[in-house]
Amino acid sequence: METRLLFFFLLTISSLWQHHHASSKYSRPPARSLIHTPHNRSESDPQQVHVSLVGQDHMRVTYITSHKHTKSLVEYGKSPGVYEASSTGDHDSYHYFFYSSGEIHNVVIGPLEPGTTYYYRCGGSGPEFSFRTPPSDLPIEFVIVGDLGQTEWTASTLAHVGAKDYDVFLLPGDLSYADTQQPLWDSFGRLVEPYASQRPWMVTEGNHEIEIFPIIYPTGFKAYNSRWLMPHQQSGSKTNLYYSFDVAGVHILMLGSYAEFDSDSDQYKWLQADLARVDRSKTPWLLALLHAPWYNSNEAHKGEGESMRKAMEELLYNARVDAVFSGHVHAYERFTRVFDNKVDPCGPVYVTIGDGGNREGLAMNFEKQKPEISVYREPSFGHGRLRVYNETRAHWSWHRNNESESVMSDEVWLHSLYSSSSCVESGDGSKRDEL
Ligand SMILES: *[C@@H]1O[C@H](CO)[C@@H](O)[C@H](O)[C@H]1NC(C)=O
Ligand SMILES: *[C@@H]1O[C@H](CO)[C@@H](O)[C@H](O)[C@H]1NC(C)=O
Ligand SMILES: *[C@@H]1O[C@H](CO)[C@@H](O)[C@H](O)[C@H]1NC(C)=O
Ligand SMILES: [Fe+2]
Repeated sequence: METRLLFFFLLTISSLWQHHHASSKYSRPPARSLIHTPHNRSESDPQQVHVSLVGQDHMRVTYITSHKHTKSLVEYGKSPGVYEASSTGDHDSYHYFFYSSGEIHNVVIGPLEPGTTYYYRCGGSGPEFSFRTPPSDLPIEFVIVGDLGQTEWTASTLAHVGAKDYDVFLLPGDLSYADTQQPLWDSFGRLVEPYASQRPWMVTEGNHEIEIFPIIYPTGFKAYNSRWLMPHQQSGSKTNLYYSFDVAGVHILMLGSYAEFDSDSDQYKWLQADLARVDRSKTPWLLALLHAPWYNSNEAHKGEGESMRKAMEELLYNARVDAVFSGHVHAYERFTRVFDNKVDPCGPVYVTIGDGGNREGLAMNFEKQKPEISVYREPSFGHGRLRVYNETRAHWSWHRNNESESVMSDEVWLHSLYSSSSCVESGDGSKRDEL
C-alpha cells in the first residue's frame, strides 16, 4: 500500500517535471478529448504495427504482441495473401515501474522495389497489412506533423493526412503524450496503426518522449527507444535520438533536441561527418527536423531552442540545408530563409508545425510585433505537405484543421539551394550564373 502511494507521489512529481516549461503566460483553448483505442484483436495477434525506412531498399516492421511466444516473423509479397518472402527479426520488452510492455518485435524486410505495394503479415497469423515503398527518384511527397498526441483533433488530422496520397510521414517529436503512463503508448500505437502500417513513419524525439525518472530511469526515452526504433546505425549514429536517411533525392537529418548538441558532443561530431558525406548531385534536397524550434515568435517555449541554434545553426547554414521543420510550439509558423536572425537567401526556411492535435491545446499567443523574418503564423491544428517535384522545385503547403475540414491555408514554392547560383559555388570557385 505504502509503496503504491509513494509510486503515485513520484509519478506526480515526474509529470510536473515533464511539464515545468509548458506553464508560461499563454492561455490555451480547450483541447478535444483523449481517444482511448482499445486492443480488440486476439492476444497473440500483432498490434500497433508501424513501418520505417532502413537504408536504400529495406523496411523495418515493428509490432507488439501480448503473447511472449509469437514469432518475430514478417511474411510479405506483392499480391494479397501471397507471401513469397519472409524475414525474421528479434523482440524485447521493457518495464516502467509496475508496467510491463508486450513483446516489441522488429523485423527488417527487403530488398524491396521502389514505389511498390507490399502485403504483409506479422507473427505468422492475424490480419494482413499493406504498405507502399517510396519512389527511388523524385517526385516524392512528405507529410509533416509534430506534436501529434491522441485526441479527437489527432484523429481528425490523421483522417486529413490519409485522405490525400503521400509517400513518407515525418514527425518532429512529441508522439503519444503518454507522459509516463505507459498504457497510453499502446493506445497511441493502435490509433496510428492504420496510417503507420501503410507508409513509413520517420520520427525524432520531443520532450514528451523523455520520461526520465530521477535515479530509477535516469537516462529516459525507455518507451520511445523500445517502440520507435529508427535506422540510426545506418547513418553512423550511436543513438536512436538522432540519425539521417536518404529517400528519393532527399537527405533528411533527424536531429535530437534532447541529446547533447554542443561542439564537443557526439551529436555535433556525427552531424559534421554526416553533412560531409552528403552528395548533392545524388540528394539535391537537404532537410532537417528537430523538436524545439530555433526560430519562434510565439510566447510559448520562447528561447528553448536557442542554445541548440547557437551550437548548430552554422553547420546547417554552411551545408545549405533547404528547410528546417520543428514542433513543440502548438501552432503553425513559417519563416523566410534565415541565418542568425536575419533574412539570408542562402539560409534554410524554418517552419514550426507542432499542431498535430495534442491534449494540451493550442499556443494562442504570438508576440504582438511580428518579426520581419516571420512570414505566416497561426495558432490552429493542421498538417503540412512537402512535395519535392524535381531537383530544383518543391511545394510546401499547410493544411489547417478547420473544425473537421482540411483547408490549405499557406503555401510556398521552394527552390533548392543546390540549384541556386548565388548560394553554391561551382567547382572552379566561380559562382554559377544560371538560376
Ligand atoms: C477495432 O478497433 C479499430 C480501431 O479502434 C476499429 O476501427 C475496429 O472497427 C474495431 N474492430 C472491432 C471488431 O471491434
Ligand atoms: C521542376 O518542377 C516544377 C514544378 O512542377 C516545374 O515547373 C519545372 O519546370 C521543373 N523543372 C525541371 C528542371 O524539370
Ligand atoms: C472553417 O470552419 C468554420 C466553422 O465551422 C466555418 O464557418 C468556415 O467557413 C470554415 N472555413 C473554411 C475556409 O472552410
Ligand atoms: Fe514538445
